[in-house]
Order: sequence, then structure tokens, then C-alpha cells
Amino acid sequence: MVEKMSNLAVKGGSPLRTKPWPKWPIFDEREKRNLIEVLESGLWGIGGSKNEEFAKKFAEYQGAKYGVTCVNGTIALEIALRALGIGYGDEVITTPYTFIATAQSIIYVNAKPVFVDIEEDTYNIDPKKIEEAITDKTKAIMPVHIGGAPANMDEIMKIAKKYDLYVIEDAAQAHGAKWGDKGVGSIGDFGTFSFQSSKNITSGEGGIIITNSEDLAEKAWSYMNCGRVRKGLWYRHVILGANYRMSEFLAAILLAQLERADELFKKRERNAEYLAKRLREIEGVEPLNYPEKARSAYHLFIFKYRKYYFENLPREKFIEALNAEGIPVSPGYTIPLYKMPAIQEYNFPGFGKLGKMYDGLSLPVTEKACKEEALWLKQTIFLAEKEDMDDIADAIIKIKRNIKELL
Ligand SMILES: Cc1ncc(COP(=O)(O)O)c(C=O)c1O
Repeated sequence: MVEKMSNLAVKGGSPLRTKPWPKWPIFDEREKRNLIEVLESGLWGIGGSKNEEFAKKFAEYQGAKYGVTCVNGTIALEIALRALGIGYGDEVITTPYTFIATAQSIIYVNAKPVFVDIEEDTYNIDPKKIEEAITDKTKAIMPVHIGGAPANMDEIMKIAKKYDLYVIEDAAQAHGAKWGDKGVGSIGDFGTFSFQSSKNITSGEGGIIITNSEDLAEKAWSYMNCGRVRKGLWYRHVILGANYRMSEFLAAILLAQLERADELFKKRERNAEYLAKRLREIEGVEPLNYPEKARSAYHLFIFKYRKYYFENLPREKFIEALNAEGIPVSPGYTIPLYKMPAIQEYNFPGFGKLGKMYDGLSLPVTEKACKEEALWLKQTIFLAEKEDMDDIADAIIKIKRNIKELL
């Protein structure tokens, strides 16, 4: 008797998709022209004008008055904290469902991150849980627009106002995203962005801080540029900053990237909305559900996996099967930041192991997202076409129909 062939690719069947996904990064003559201009000008760093030009244009793009470029999104957060005078003895409220840089920047200025759970619908910090985390040491709230989807800035700003707290928006993943008619990063005291290679606008590495306050912009500039004053004497340093300047080559690339940002933003949005519609028709997968006011940059398309509808197949097995079908899905963050070894083990000055602070902490929505529920598709997927989105939904349907092969 001939053994029945498997349908699922992970079991030796044919993959639903073999066509490659769009390549990233994207560039054309504009990047080349700008790079050559910097190269030939001889002004590769100090004295060049591309950083200033990009800072102004990007701030405008997000709807803020001022921009200060710097080496990366991690340092952008640190500069924002320092410029606000946040340091030893202070607490900053943030989310545990983010990249380590968010919390690390707080720790690097000797303040303590206080973690608040995320919303079921958006995986962004839950404003309803912020007030109970406020103490007399709280100085700021640092929401993260996770995956490029805006946190609820109306509620966050209301709380910040009530308790006189600063707001630093970690918008590292949210280029072009909007909350109502406002660009993210332009709503709090500071907004920060990353241009690292995976980001929707990239120069390989890089970062920016945006603000509407001239005073804060000058402070951020000073920290970024060795503690100098913009028009002061070159060797007169008024604060202990560092050299966090971004190269002119990176700014040259970013100026070109910004020119096509809108077109790519709209394409990701169109495809992501179509995919969300398709996925909502499949019992057992559930795209995050954003409020009316939120316009995501779709740096990540995050959806939930409900194993109950897949005969209790663990998420990791589902991912393996989907990857084999040609769909590059991942689990994303699998460790809440309050359980991250680097944070747990950090010897906080005058306190000891920072992990002590989070003993027994288990935030249920974050835990569920990290351990069993979240699935991520990255932004480059959404630069493909509508029929490519169908492949994603169809691959999930295929796995569901043939689930017995995986049990
Ligand atoms: C939410 C978040 N914050 C901060 C950062 C740090 O940015 P960078 O990698 O440019 O230092 C990242 C980048 O990966 C991020 O995703």
C-alpha cells in the first residue's frame, strides 16, 4: 500500500509559496546622488549640512518644530531623558512589551523603569493601568508605539498633565504614524525614532529626537554634541554630553528615503488592512484592533494566535509550519522586559540587583503575548502586492485544514 503523501510543507509537502518577498532596503538614484554629493564635498561630518536639512524635514514630516539627529534610537532615548533632567532616584513608567533599548535608556541615566501592562487590543501600554504605578518618584511616562501603531496619546497626555509628568514617545518603529491629525513623536515632550536597518526609513543605523520646545531641542543638541552650545565656542562645554553625532553620509541616505516614505507608508497600510480583513475571516487568528484615531506605520503587523482553534498546536509548531509554507512569521518578543536577564541582573547603584524590583511581577496581557499569542510579520512583506497577502491567509487556512498532520 502506498503511504499517503503529506500536504503540509513542514511534513514534506509542497510549500504554498516559493516566490521571494520584497528586498529591503530600497534605494535608487536619489540615495546615490546624495551620497556622492557628500563624498565630493569633503564635508563628511562637522561642517556638512545634510544632518540639519534632514532633521528639519523629518521633524516637519512628523509635525514637530525641531529635530536633532544622533547615532541611533537607543541614544535618542537617552538624550531625551538627560535633556529632561531625569536621573538617579527617578522612576519612568513604560511598557515591558518592547525592545530592550526602551528600558535600557532609563537604566543608563540611573532611573528605574516601572512596567505597566499592555492593552489586549493594541499591545501598547494600557493607560488605565498607569495611574496606579505613579509614585512620588515618577518623573515621566515613556509609551512605545509598538509595531508602528500609536499608543493612546489622549489618555497618556491627560495623566501626564494631571500628575505633572514628562512624556517621551519611543517612536523607533513608527515613522509616519499618526494619532488623530498629529504625527507620533510630536505629542509628548520628546519623540524619538530609529533608522536602524529594519526600520521603515533607514540608513543602516541612525536616530532622531523631535520636540516642539526650542529649549529642549537645544538641550538635546548639546547632549548629542559633546555638551557644546550651538553658537558657542567650539571648546567650551557646558554639560557632559558625548559625541553622538550622525555621519553626513547617513543623513544623505535618509533625505532620499524620506522622499519615498509616504508612498511606501500607503502601500503597507493598504496591504495590511487587506490582510487584516482576510485574517478576520479565519477563526483562530486575530489581528490587533486599533482605535479610530490610530494610523499605524505597520513596521510590524501583529496578530494573535489562538491555539484552541488549531487543536492546541503550540505557537512554535504553527510558526514552523507557516515558515515552511513560505510565510516568514515570527513570535516577536518572547520575554517581558521585567524578566530579561540583562535587566534582572543589573546591579543598580545603591539598590543591588534590579530584578528585586520586579519580584513576583507578572503582567498577564504581556505574558500571554510573549509566551503564546503574538505573531509578527515585518514591514517588508507589506511592500508586496495584494495577491501576496492572499498567500499569507491561504497558508494559514491550509495549515488549519491539515492540522492533523501536525498533531
Ligand atoms: C521600540 C524600540 N525602541 C528603541 C530602539 C532602538 O533603536 P536603535 O536600534 O536605533 O538603537 C528600537 C530599535 O530597534 C526599538 O524597536
